[in-house]
Amino acid sequence: MHPVLHDKLRADADRLSEALEHMSKLFLAPKEEKTLRAFSTAEVAELLRVSDGYLRKAHFDGRIPDVAQGPGNKRLYQAEDILNIRQILAQTAKDPFQFLPGRRDGDKLQIWSTVNFKGGSSKTTTTATLGMRLALRGYRVCLIDADPQASLTTFFGYQPELDFRHGGTLYDAIRYNDGDQTRVPITDVLRKTYFPNLDLVPGGIMLSEYETETPTALSRGEQPVFFNRIRDSLRQVDDDYDIVLIDCPPQLGYITMSAVCASTSLLMTIIPERVDLASASQFLTMASGVLEVLHSNGGIGAYDNFAYLLTRFDTAISTQQDLAEWIRQLLGDSVIATPFVKSSAVSEAGLSQRTIVEVDLTGAKNRKTYERALESVMGFSNDIETMIQAAWGRGGGDNET
Ligand SMILES: Nc1ncnc2c1ncn2[C@@H]1O[C@H](COP(=O)(O)OP(=O)(O)O)[C@@H](O)[C@H]1O
Ligand SMILES: [Mg+2]
Repeated sequence: MHPVLHDKLRADADRLSEALEHMSKLFLAPKEEKTLRAFSTAEVAELLRVSDGYLRKAHFDGRIPDVAQGPGNKRLYQAEDILNIRQILAQTAKDPFQFLPGRRDGDKLQIWSTVNFKGGSSKTTTTATLGMRLALRGYRVCLIDADPQASLTTFFGYQPELDFRHGGTLYDAIRYNDGDQTRVPITDVLRKTYFPNLDLVPGGIMLSEYETETPTALSRGEQPVFFNRIRDSLRQVDDDYDIVLIDCPPQLGYITMSAVCASTSLLMTIIPERVDLASASQFLTMASGVLEVLHSNGGIGAYDNFAYLLTRFDTAISTQQDLAEWIRQLLGDSVIATPFVKSSAVSEAGLSQRTIVEVDLTGAKNRKTYERALESVMGFSNDIETMIQAAWGRGGGDNET
């Protein structure tokens, strides 16, 4: 007997996902929780923008609580310690905002979407790395995984296809009405992570439904319209964060448009290669057309930045260097000064769903490689911080204490 194709596919899918769930229960139980490493004095000094000596003296004077010590009596700071020290130092500092760089009264929540047509242009890696770095720098950060592929979600130790099989993703917060099923407050799907100051709205395959459901929702006039649904959800948590980063799928579909309309700034990743530039140009042309229509429908308002980040930049390849230079000449100040360099440290960390911010360098063999990649991450992250501070009307003049 030959079953009809859709029945066979459904049955196979059910069989596979049941088996997978069973397997994960066997192998991963109890579920391996991701945790965050400790940070050294030098790292904490850099994050607080003070000198090592200043930090040691503050401990010595008893102005800040002491922390655990590792081999060689070296201080080991947990992320919670760093946050705690920030708050204490802010209370006595001449300029408390050096230690608490986030929003002040009247500052707008910064919402950045990472966009590009092209898969593999480092959208997800950049979003995850930037989010973790900004959280360690003292900002309250929310990461939103708007990609059905959900790679950003996997960075936080989840297996989206199993963990969110029955819901719990961004989709639940932006979905259209279907009988008695309606969207939920975004706080229902928000999850704390193992970084203090960093929350996650997971993604998952259900998000692809948004693409197919939007045309019918539009035809029956359901409100809010697609481009307002992420913006609308984020209003519920407007006061809880300084910065929201949205990782978009590699296409200009309804979800990406909804993310773009919710954003105050956009970050476009570009690999300095000819083919990538061609697709970047295509994306910009299409986005411009779509945004023009949305603009006339009130979907899009003022924005602060449209920034390009050179990613996976292989400085050893001269054609990449030439192209990077050429891009800077063409696009000027919109190109972020520090590129995200291509590094085996980044891709290796990525294999175990980690960003290089998370990798413990103590005793690492390829320390130099990691340090070079980290320098690049700190560079573009600081550049973006400067843009965020500028959007809040500040010169970004955080002085060394
Ligand atoms: N700076 C980098 N150096 C080396 N590999 C990188 C870098 N950034 C990203 N990658 C790797 O490139 C691949 C695609 O990156 P990803 O962030 O998933 O791109 P996207 O989200 O645009 O599809 C991943 O394997 C990732 O580890
Ligand atoms: Mg991605």
